[in-house]
Amino acid sequence: VSGDFRWQSTSPDHTFAFGRVLGRHLCGGDALALLGELGSGKTQLVKGLAAGLGVAADEPVVSPTFVLVREYIGRLRLYHLDAYRLGGADDLLSLGIDEMLADSAGVVAVEWADRVPGVLPPTAWTVELNHAGEQRRELTVSVPDSQRRAAVQRDLEALRGSGGPNGVSSATDSQGDRS
Ligand SMILES: Nc1ncnc2c1ncn2[C@@H]1O[C@H](COP(=O)(O)OP(=O)(O)OP(=O)(O)O)[C@@H](O)[C@H]1O
Ligand SMILES: [Mg+2]
Repeated sequence: VSGDFRWQSTSPDHTFAFGRVLGRHLCGGDALALLGELGSGKTQLVKGLAAGLGVAADEPVVSPTFVLVREYIGRLRLYHLDAYRLGGADDLLSLGIDEMLADSAGVVAVEWADRVPGVLPPTAWTVELNHAGEQRRELTVSVPDSQRRAAVQRDLEALRGSGGPNGVSSATDSQGDRS
C-alpha cells in the first residue's frame, strides 16, 4: 500500500460524492474493505461507489441487511456485502465471496470487513470512516496502487476546490453521471 490520505466529510451528500470519485477509479477485480462504527456512513459511501460505477439511479442502493449480498450492474458488477449482518467469514465463504472476488468484471465492497480478517485480499482498498460530529466524518482511504492513488487524490482535491463541502449539493449528486 502506497499510503493513506484523509478527507473530511460534512454531510451525507459529501460522503456520496467522495464515494463517487472512488467508484470512477475502480477496476474489475478490486475489493474494498469499509471500516467504521454503526452509522459512520459505509452504506452511504457505497451509494456513491455505485454512482461512480454508472449504476442507474433508479436502482437504489440499500443496506444488505435482509438480502445478504446485493448486486448492482454498472460499468462493472458491484457486489455489496455486510459482514456485521452475517455471522462471519464462513457465511461470506458460503455466499460465494471467492467467486465474487474472482470476477474480473466485478468489484466487491464489504462493510465491517475487519470482522472477517483474511477474507479480502491484501490488495483491497480500505476506507475507514469515523464520527467527528453529528454530520462530520473523517474518511481515510488507502488505494492499492500509487498511480490510482495519485489520480484519486487529484479528483478529491478538485472536488474540494469545486466549492468544498457546501458546493456538493444533492441536486448535483442526483444528476451527476448516474445514467
Ligand atoms: N457526513 C456524513 N456522511 C455519511 N453519513 C452521514 C453523514 N452525516 C450524517 N450521516 C448520517 O449517518 C448515517 C449513516 O448511515 P449508513 O447506513 O451509511 O452507515 P453505516 O456505516 O453503513 O452503518 P451500519 O454499520 O449500521 O451498516 C445516515 O443516517 C446519514 O444520513
Ligand atoms: Mg451499512
